[in-house]
Amino acid sequence: MTNIILLGPPGAGKGTQARRLVEERGLVQLSTGDMLREARTSGTEMGKKVAAVMDRGDLVTDDIVIGLIEEKLKTARAKGFIFDGFPRTLAQADALGALLKRSGQELDAVIEMRVDDEALVDRISGRYTCGNCGEVYHDRTKPTAKPGVCDVCGSTDLRRRADDNAESLKQRLMEYYKKTSPLMGYYYAAGELFTVDGLADIDAVAKSIADVLDRAKGA
Ligand code: AP5
Repeated sequence: MTNIILLGPPGAGKGTQARRLVEERGLVQLSTGDMLREARTSGTEMGKKVAAVMDRGDLVTDDIVIGLIEEKLKTARAKGFIFDGFPRTLAQADALGALLKRSGQELDAVIEMRVDDEALVDRISGRYTCGNCGEVYHDRTKPTAKPGVCDVCGSTDLRRRADDNAESLKQRLMEYYKKTSPLMGYYYAAGELFTVDGLADIDAVAKSIADVLDRAKGA
């Protein structure tokens, strides 16, 4: 099993790199952001509750996201998991540790993707996603080959996220620095933290992550 966490602020490139790892290493991506976006379109009570929280840029409560991850870990069969956007608080990190231990698994690496705030604003404001297959694009750094058509699945359902605006981003960054950045110390102390330069281009970041995984596996 290979279990990794991709840790980084909004727009750091976690989703982009997670999708590559799925393709290249056959791992399963567990993105709490994607799960919550799915929940909000389902019309359930939980979906309605989380929609407003996400649009504001606040974090959804720990019990909801831990419940979502617990459910996936129980049902998904995989060679390993990429935790994308989870954990985001110390309580979530403790819960993930307990869940993995209970199923006889461990973490191989926590990869911090370091990017400065200025680049994040540019990445978030240029992002769009395929509503059908989830492929992530950017107006400048990764546009679709044919305007308005997804390169991967050919869908024309290309969307921008409701929380990708300046006001929500400010709040998402605030939440990140207040509640998620302490996880760096948490995983550093556990000897599991690796840092990559998230400002490099997409291929170069993928190469740095591959190097980390080879090192972590060989350790
Ligand atoms: P979530 O969906 O997890 O959003 P996020 O953490 O804010 O991260 P993003 O998806 O915005 O960015 P990313 O790092 O994946 O970057 P991407 O690859 O898309 O969470 C959304 C909300 O859900 C939260 O605010 C919260 O309310 C809730 N939530 C989720 N999980 C939760 C949890 N555990 N607890 C509580 N609440 C939770 O890349 C961004 C753009 O940059 C793209 O356009 C891409 O093409 C481009 N790009 C990527 N890499 C590069 C590169 N190297 N060079 C140039 N461009 C690049």
